[in-house]
Amino acid sequence: MPSASPSERRELQAGAETRNRRDFWRDAFLAVRAETERRAAPLSAEDQLVQSMPDASPTKWHRAHTTWFFEQFLLNAFAPGYKPFDDRFAFLFNSYYVAAGPRHARPSRGILTRPTAQDVSAYRAHVDAAVAALIEKADDAAFDRIAPIVEIGLHHEQQHQELVLTDILHAFAQNPVLPAYDPDWTMPKANAGNDYAELPTGIHPVGFDGGGFCFDNELPVHRVLLQPVQISKTLVTNREWFDFIADGGYARPDLWLSDGFAQVEAEGWIAPGYWQQQDGQWFAMTLGGLRKLDPAAPVTQVSYYEADAFARWRGEHLPTEMEWETAARAGLLDDAFGIVWQWTRSSYSPYPGYRAAPGALGEYNGKFMINQMVLRGSSLATPQGHERLSYRNFFHPPARWQFSGLRLARYPD
Ligand SMILES: [Fe+2]
Repeated sequence: MPSASPSERRELQAGAETRNRRDFWRDAFLAVRAETERRAAPLSAEDQLVQSMPDASPTKWHRAHTTWFFEQFLLNAFAPGYKPFDDRFAFLFNSYYVAAGPRHARPSRGILTRPTAQDVSAYRAHVDAAVAALIEKADDAAFDRIAPIVEIGLHHEQQHQELVLTDILHAFAQNPVLPAYDPDWTMPKANAGNDYAELPTGIHPVGFDGGGFCFDNELPVHRVLLQPVQISKTLVTNREWFDFIADGGYARPDLWLSDGFAQVEAEGWIAPGYWQQQDGQWFAMTLGGLRKLDPAAPVTQVSYYEADAFARWRGEHLPTEMEWETAARAGLLDDAFGIVWQWTRSSYSPYPGYRAAPGALGEYNGKFMINQMVLRGSSLATPQGHERLSYRNFFHPPARWQFSGLRLARYPD
């Protein structure tokens, strides 16, 4: 076979790279889509419809909404001649994108008995086929514009994969028969200890600086000045929380922010979410059903208010997100990822120089930068490969249906 000329070789190489990129994105797309279905598989059609509170969405809605995201932002925009699966679905499954049109009210997602779970499966299959064909057939210039939309759509779907688990757990925890999502589920093991890592005073970079994907709220990288602080290497455990409760933690207004104690009184909180006491023993509803609490396991299902009160009870505080990121970058934190998100005392605000993307996708993060607190790390429900050192999760201070825990920080003497 005659050897190729340099220009032919370059062309062949470019063709192979394009081919590899198309294969890469098709495979990534199919893998993420399959993971959503894997998480939904143990749930019946009845399970998939339930909405146990306005903040928690039905599994069926998550499956359909993530599909709508690809239909709206990828296929309608970039696939010539694409015909939506059902014109009514844009209204039903748009979440909060005002620029993408009117939408069904969030608290009423649980009344959507139709389309059925089976209809949603057909919707997913329709969109999967169209996206795979688009990745295959788009011309090179179009492909360059498509790939970033596929990418954000996959990260978006992974966020909803986490919510599939947290939202069904909230529903199951309200159900007197306490169903198990997965009877074999176990809590990941955490490192034990009472060590604190020292963060010396200094100027540190914060924000995403790697190759690959990040959300716009992780940008731009900027420098922050940190004061000397010590940050706990380990997560706060159930055992420590037992002590907080035994010391009257939920009954002492001096430990709480005013809004937090109002929440304690209004909701009758005496323990973290899903905890219940039987014969003097604490149990909690988990993905494996009702389980006796392991004292050594990290506490989870606590709100920002509770995390803050606990820290105050210990005479310490929650780290800022900048302290957390700096310590995690230095490898100083045990179990930063994969067990519980960790509340920080940073309010969710734009980084200096932040600009939301133009158009409807600019609504993804920026418009929520008020009245919420940042959590760092990732949880046992976070899909593989979704975590990052610079990742900023955010929830309202009373929220406790996520796998949310904490680590402490303190100032050196
Ligand atoms: Fe969404």
